[in-house]
Amino acid sequence: MFVDMHHHFVYGIDDGAQTIEDMQQMLDLAYTSGAERIVATPHATPGRHVFQMERYLDHFEKAKVWCAEREYDLKLYKGCEIFYTEDAARLLDEGLIPTIGGSRYVLVEFSPDAPYARLKQAARALGSVGYQPIFAHIERYDCLRKTAYVEEIYRDYQVITQVNASTIVRGGFFTWQWLRKVIRLGCLDLISSDAHNVSTRRFCMDQCYERLKRSFDMELAQRLCRNNAMTILDECEPG
Ligand SMILES: [Fe+2]
Repeated sequence: MFVDMHHHFVYGIDDGAQTIEDMQQMLDLAYTSGAERIVATPHATPGRHVFQMERYLDHFEKAKVWCAEREYDLKLYKGCEIFYTEDAARLLDEGLIPTIGGSRYVLVEFSPDAPYARLKQAARALGSVGYQPIFAHIERYDCLRKTAYVEEIYRDYQVITQVNASTIVRGGFFTWQWLRKVIRLGCLDLISSDAHNVSTRRFCMDQCYERLKRSFDMELAQRLCRNNAMTILDECEPG
């Protein structure tokens, strides 16, 4: 069973599901692949694009109805994936973009070429006003290829780290080497799907889990694909 902290199933908000049918297919695939809890994390860019909160809440409700009709034992949580800007904390405070399940946890992303100083600044700025940042797909940021920086952001800045399941399943040799090092350092908390559709960017936490189990062990696979995320969601309200 998997707990997915990063998923773009809410339709008509971003580059994830485009139609209600897309959303239903994504939920079907995630559930039949073993997901037991999923956080909806459409993109939000504070201060640059207005987050369509009403539309989001409406479409999120439709997702819940779909799961209830199909009698899925699947809990859905609200959230978003915040492209970090200086306006992020203010918009969170004002409730214009959602935290994860109404908690202090927030999923944050950057551009791949963001300087390391930018990541530290975001961790400090959000942390200083009470938010707990989770950095999305840390494998994408050039600056974090230096594992000493991953260690620093993890230990000194207390950032929670997330890697995409597809990176485990299909990542290249050098990415895999980097990832093994990050895992051995104990600096990875979460693996999530970052699913956008049911084809090119589909839910693959089941395949990821199998690879982790083979390459490391079952305990680590369960911790990264389920238990750590479950601990976070125990502090959150389902939608
Ligand atoms: Fe994402």
